[in-house]
Amino acid sequence: MTTSPLPFDLKPSAHPLPAADREAALANPGFGRHFTDHMVTIRYTEGQGWHDARLEPYGPLSLDPATMVLHYSQEIFEGLKAYRQADGSVAVFRPEANGERFQRSARRMAMPELPVETFVEAMDVLVRQDEAWVPASGEQSLYLRPFMIASEVGLGINRPANEYLFMVIASPAGAYFPKGIKPVSVWLSKEYVRASPGGTGEAKTGGNYAGTFVAQAEATRHGCDQVVWLDAVERRWVEEMGGMNLYFVRGSGADAQIVTPQLTGTLLPGITRDSLLRIASDLGYSTGEVKISTDDWRQGNADGTITEVFACGTAAVITPVGSVRSAEGDWTVGDGQPGPVTQRLREELLGLQTGARPDPYGWMHAI
Ligand code: PLP
Ligand code: COI
Repeated sequence: MTTSPLPFDLKPSAHPLPAADREAALANPGFGRHFTDHMVTIRYTEGQGWHDARLEPYGPLSLDPATMVLHYSQEIFEGLKAYRQADGSVAVFRPEANGERFQRSARRMAMPELPVETFVEAMDVLVRQDEAWVPASGEQSLYLRPFMIASEVGLGINRPANEYLFMVIASPAGAYFPKGIKPVSVWLSKEYVRASPGGTGEAKTGGNYAGTFVAQAEATRHGCDQVVWLDAVERRWVEEMGGMNLYFVRGSGADAQIVTPQLTGTLLPGITRDSLLRIASDLGYSTGEVKISTDDWRQGNADGTITEVFACGTAAVITPVGSVRSAEGDWTVGDGQPGPVTQRLREELLGLQTGARPDPYGWMHAI
């Protein structure tokens, strides 16, 4: 088996995008619409291990129509961000944590585990090459999308594939929600579920998302921005959102308590979620991982004990939840505006990520 570190063959593009076009993309990046000049590819073959690590020009893949991923969705991915630091350098937020989650996803999907050092090195190689694509300021960032697909050709399903392709692509990112920090409205999904016990909910695999678009369309029909997923069995325990975890603030001021749904195996263990548990607790808030039902939410909202709700994730950072719609009724969260605890945590997190505030945890990985 190949052991890390894997040597990277660097083949920079002879035709990178002209600087003016890149600057135009960076001026209005949106989310996941523009891609940088390069990508990383690493191959895995059963018996041989990881091999052929390359940095190459960004471009289409050529796949046999019988490639296994196209039929059975043996695929996993990650999402993490590189930020321009206050001193002009570039650093990536917690890449080791994403590398470890990528390994857990791989185990669940019967895929080979990429060594965490190789995962982190792959980010370094791409970000170093495409550094000019890291936006210059503030809340913008370069979103990194590592993923792995079953690349063996064949239609049998008696065993997992024996060949895989790992890749990293990168895309400059502005606000994930076009409205910026404006609160989002959410739809509580009772008809559709995202993940059930024993399933793949805590793995970051494409199939978990494929099944959710129909519910997202339902949310849109109800005038909502996002879906909130409930547990599959009782359909009353709040789990998470489409691409974000949820936090509830009880009370206010220094006595505020900040809680998030506990990890049940059916929701994604978000790295932003984990980071906020730490940051909030170090700011002196009491924190907790709890079970919270839709009734708890509605009641807590009505009697004023739940003062703020926000969603958090790499792409969305921290986004307030302003209103809820469900088959059983609608309500406004607090006064429907971004709450003070939400805003404080957002500033602390972004401050740490952009180097404007200290990083006592050693979370920022310098490129
Ligand atoms: N939940 C889901 C379903 C997600 O796709 C994501 C995004 O990665 C998250 C939660 C938040 O996770 P993280 O904070 O690691 O980005
Ligand atoms: C992320 O925040 O990295 C996500 O994966 C969310 C979504 C774009 C799938």
